[in-house]
Amino acid sequence: MGLLFSPVYPTESDSMPQLPTHRPRRNRKSQVIRDMVQETRLTTHDFIYPLFLIEGQNQQLEVSSMPGIHRFTADRLIDEIGRCVELGIHTFAPFPSINDALKDRLAQESANPEGLYLKTVADIKRQFPDVVLMTDVAMDPYSSDGHDGVVDVDSGEILNDASLEVLGQMALAQARAGADIIGPSDMMDGRVAWIREVLDQNAFGHVSIMSYTAKYASAFYGPFRDALDSAPKKGDKKSYQMNPANRREALRELALDEAEGADMVMVKPALSYLDVILDVKNHTHLPVTAYNVSGEYAMVKAAARNGWLDGEKTMMEVLTSIKRAGADAILTYFAKEAAEVLRRG
Ligand code: PBG
Repeated sequence: MGLLFSPVYPTESDSMPQLPTHRPRRNRKSQVIRDMVQETRLTTHDFIYPLFLIEGQNQQLEVSSMPGIHRFTADRLIDEIGRCVELGIHTFAPFPSINDALKDRLAQESANPEGLYLKTVADIKRQFPDVVLMTDVAMDPYSSDGHDGVVDVDSGEILNDASLEVLGQMALAQARAGADIIGPSDMMDGRVAWIREVLDQNAFGHVSIMSYTAKYASAFYGPFRDALDSAPKKGDKKSYQMNPANRREALRELALDEAEGADMVMVKPALSYLDVILDVKNHTHLPVTAYNVSGEYAMVKAAARNGWLDGEKTMMEVLTSIKRAGADAILTYFAKEAAEVLRRG
């Protein structure tokens, strides 16, 4: 091949500068070779698809800040799950939007077996026994205060130990409805041990716990709270969710969740926390998951709508990077769209 031009060297030596002997580009020279040496490969088995559930029948409403994502009535949600199963997605994380009239201080609707959420969970499991359902444990969708724990009436403080009782009852009711995996997203101290004990004492030893281990107080949850109308009425979640500036603290949470009996651990959000995903991966033998949250989805969609990014390529790059960082599974609103891309090949 040779050089394109003959360089003139100002030095006394007439030897050429050293041409590279190590050429990483050789491993990139064709699509076949690139495919052969690819380190991270997404599959539909990696995805957990979060779904939004609303009261009513035969309706689906698009979440305005999440193009392509809908809030479904139970019948439509079940149809959607059927379509996703066809695409190879088998794990789902439903979240309910609860009527304001049913919300109270203690989130009592969360343990009502006849309520929207638990009835739908049972329906889904009846229709699709092989589908894995991960149910969310936190008070916010059912709480008149919009917080994940019990709010003290006088001080406004979030009461840790009083919350554990509510969360334990919620988890137990979800297990009874047929949940395969309990996902405590509340960040109260000691909740994994508490929930594990409640489950075990009630013969639900086979029900798993995927702990939201390092859940940060993030601005990226905005669209989710719009979708469920679950934003805190007062204050913020900083007294229980982690400070985005902290990394070592995630390992402390990890050690506690392991000791308390979590089966899987999660980092949330994902994209701004890839370092945390890697750290957690390096410090545990448990499966690590990451939650690619609503705001991360919204950003890509908004830019794609404006023609500023190629939405599909960006989506695949985002998901691949989360897996590359160490996530064994990814909760993502992109699940269905990415499964369609993967099917196309
Ligand atoms: C509730 C919960 C939240 C999310 C999942 N479970 C919101 C919050 O903590 O305020 C956010 C998910 C997302 O943004 O996609 N405990």
